[in-house]
Amino acid sequence: MNRLNIAVIGAGYWGKKVIAQILDIARTGEEINLYSVADSSPIALEQCRKEFGPLNYRLDYRELLSDPKVSAVHLCSPNQTHFEIASEFLREGKHVLVEKPLAMKSREGYELVRLAKEHGSVLCTGHVHRFNNGIRGLRRLMDSGVLGDIYYLRLKWTGFMAIQNNREVITDLGPHPFDICNNLLETWPKKISCKGRGYRSSAGYEMASIYSEHPGGYDAGIELSWLDMEKHRDVTVVGSDGTAELDCIEQRLVLHRKGAVERVMVVPNNTLREEILHFARCIEYNSSAEHYPNRADGTLGANVVRVLETTKKSLEEERTIQVEIPRGEPIPASEPMPGLHAEPPSMGSL
Ligand SMILES: NC(=O)c1ccc[n+]([C@@H]2O[C@H](COP(=O)([O-])OP(=O)(O)OC[C@H]3O[C@@H](n4cnc5c(N)ncnc54)[C@H](O)[C@@H]3O)[C@@H](O)[C@H]2O)c1
Repeated sequence: MNRLNIAVIGAGYWGKKVIAQILDIARTGEEINLYSVADSSPIALEQCRKEFGPLNYRLDYRELLSDPKVSAVHLCSPNQTHFEIASEFLREGKHVLVEKPLAMKSREGYELVRLAKEHGSVLCTGHVHRFNNGIRGLRRLMDSGVLGDIYYLRLKWTGFMAIQNNREVITDLGPHPFDICNNLLETWPKKISCKGRGYRSSAGYEMASIYSEHPGGYDAGIELSWLDMEKHRDVTVVGSDGTAELDCIEQRLVLHRKGAVERVMVVPNNTLREEILHFARCIEYNSSAEHYPNRADGTLGANVVRVLETTKKSLEEERTIQVEIPRGEPIPASEPMPGLHAEPPSMGSL
């Protein structure tokens, strides 16, 4: 396989993590080469220089648009820039991985899907928990029947953040919980109701409490907060015979059954590394006959943005809103469950 020349656009908090991963993959394997890092802030690039040493740094990503050596970009710039920058690269026939959320508006997200198709490019969304072995373990547990009939899901996505200007918590923290609900239930919500508010500033919502109703009678309660001093990325599944609790950061999965608490074996993995390698493999197989499913494709990203829009509408209009996912957009295929033991799930008493 030829090395994939990838450029990272946006080298802030998340972009630096992506750069570190790509450099590590390039050091340990042969698949990817970090071709360039672009950030409009000289300060951000100076910090990168100190942290990563000399690289092909650019202040203007536009210099990379027509560079034939660039095959792919990983977009880690602020949410508001995703649509514009991703469109420009897709129009040049580059492959693009856009950090979540794919875009600020769902029609922009679906337009990116269209552009990728038109130009034969791979479009991925940074739904990193698609690659989380903890989520895979939880799905496996649900599929095994050990929880009995699934009743409802509870997701807690919280952590402290300073007052944010031009950002609100639903767009920022909401994508992962909604993506996880889709991954676990294989459906999109039918209806959403949401309450929330900003406490320290009127600039944007800092807390949101969301109730989402899925087909089949499954419900999900989602708590988002930038005010909670404790960071949580937790998913709980409540069933008739048991409750499963997953800490998505530690990839620690626990099963509660009558009178027993058991730890379910999950081999923790590096989710960001897997996401980047998955992007590279999607590109590798893109033009070949061999099938390699894109597990975090643009349609998934655009559908998540549609759900976020519905959530904000519910909050603003103070009512339950019907979710309308465009027809004909496929739900991502179920994925295999690497990194886990064969059924039944392996458990050890706590
Ligand atoms: N998958 C995850 O779990 C995860 C976690 C954190 C952030 N993110 C996503 O990553 C993205 C970046 O978030 P962050 O926390 O790193 O933000 P950040 O503000 O720390 O970094 C953004 C960087 O982009 C640069 N930038 C702004 N406009 C630009 C432009 N036009 N061209 C090039 N560079 C530009 C800024 O100078 C800054 O260095 C967001 O979309 C966010 O949602 C994803």
